[in-house]
Amino acid sequence: MEKTITVLPGDGIGPEVTEAAVKVLQTIAKRFNHTFNLHYELIGGAAIDDCENPLPEETIKQCSQSDAILLGAVGGPKWDQNPSHLRPEKGLLAIRKHFGLYANIRPVKAIPALLDSSPLKKEVAENVDLVIVRELTGGLYFSEPREKSHDHALDTLAYSRTEIERIVDTAFQIARSRRGKLASVDKANVLDTSKLWREIVEEKRQNYPDVELEHMLVDSTAMKMITQPSAFDVIVTENMFGDILSDEASVITGSLGMLPSASTREDGFGLYEPVHGSAPDIAGQNKANPAATILSAAMMLREAFQMETEAAAVEEAVFNVLNDGNFTGDLQVEGKRVLSTTEWTAKVLEELDSEFVSDSIMFSYV
Ligand SMILES: NC(=O)c1ccc[n+]([C@@H]2O[C@H](COP(=O)([O-])OP(=O)(O)OC[C@H]3O[C@@H](n4cnc5c(N)ncnc54)[C@H](O)[C@@H]3O)[C@@H](O)[C@H]2O)c1
Repeated sequence: MEKTITVLPGDGIGPEVTEAAVKVLQTIAKRFNHTFNLHYELIGGAAIDDCENPLPEETIKQCSQSDAILLGAVGGPKWDQNPSHLRPEKGLLAIRKHFGLYANIRPVKAIPALLDSSPLKKEVAENVDLVIVRELTGGLYFSEPREKSHDHALDTLAYSRTEIERIVDTAFQIARSRRGKLASVDKANVLDTSKLWREIVEEKRQNYPDVELEHMLVDSTAMKMITQPSAFDVIVTENMFGDILSDEASVITGSLGMLPSASTREDGFGLYEPVHGSAPDIAGQNKANPAATILSAAMMLREAFQMETEAAAVEEAVFNVLNDGNFTGDLQVEGKRVLSTTEWTAKVLEELDSEFVSDSIMFSYV
C-alpha cells in the first residue's frame, strides 16, 4: 500500500519524538512492503520563527494532500510572551478546526512493567484499560464572544446539537467495540450545555441498546479516576472536561510520555500525536520518551490505513521493550538503567525486526 504522511515535528521534544516514530514507520514499511511518502512541514513556534504564522498555508496545503498527519508537540517559553495570534498553540487549535477533527481519542492502558512508575497503588492502577473520547473543536476553547480587559474577562461555552451528536455517536461505537460500557461526563446540575449534552446522550442510547450507559458529573469522575480507574471502559465528554480528565488519567500509566492520541473525523482522516506537550525542560537532550508518539503512529496505521497487523506489531514491540526492563528517564523505575531517546528507539526497531507478531493487541481501543 502507498500512503502519504505529513510530519509536523513542532517544538521542544517534538522533533526528537517524531524522528523516533518516523523510524518505526520506515521499518514497518520495509517489513510489510508498504510505501510511506513523508513530507515535513512547520507548525507552532518553529513556524512562527520561520514566517510569523503558527499554521502556514503551505502546511495546510500539504496536510490536505496527505492520508494522515503525525504531529510532535508545540510551544515553549520562547513564545510565551507573544501576542495571542503568534502563540504556538494557535497552530494546533487551528489545524484541528481547519480539518474538522472533532473526535480526540485517548486510550489509557496500564502496562504491567510500568506499574511501579504509577503514582497510584499497584492494585488500583493495574487492569486500567479505558478510552477517553473528548470533543475537540467546540466548547469553551472555541466559542465566541471572548474578551479581556484590565478588570473583566469573558469566555463563552457553546455547543450545537450536531457537535454533540457526532461525538456521542463516536463514543457509543467505540464502547460497542470494547467492553460495552460508556460513561458520559458533564456538569448537568449547573450548565445548560451539559443539560443539552445529557438529553442528546439519552436520545442516542436508543440506537445502542447493547451499551451500558452511565451519566456522571465531572467532579465525581475526577475522584473515581483516581480511586477506581479500572471501573471505566469508555468516557465521553466535552472539550475542557476532556482536556483535564485525560491529563489526570495519563499519570496512571506512569508517565505522560506513554500516552498516544488520535484526533479524527467521520471519514477517518486524522492527526496523530502524543498527549504530552513540548517538554522544554528536557528538549534537545535526547531524554524524551518517544513511546507516546510511536504508539500514536500505531494508531495511525490502524485507524487511518486499516493496517491492523502492522499496528499490533508496533504496540507489541513497545510492550516487549518495556517488559525487558528498558526505560527512559521519565518512568523512574528504581535500579533500572535509563536509556536515551535514540537508544530506546533502537530497541523498538530491533524488536520490530525480530518479533513474532502475536494475536494480542496491547493498546487497541477497537
Ligand atoms: N499538544 C501539544 O502540543 C501540547 C500539549 C500540552 C502542552 N503543550 C505546550 O508544551 C509546553 C510545555 O508544557 P507543560 O510543561 O505543561 O507540559 P509537557 O507535557 O510538555 O511536560 C510536562 C512534564 O512532563 C515531562 N514530559 C512530557 N512529555 C515527556 C516525554 N515524552 N518524555 C519524558 N518526559 C516528558 C516534561 O519533561 C515535563 O516535566 C507549553 O508551551 C505548552 O503550551 C503542547
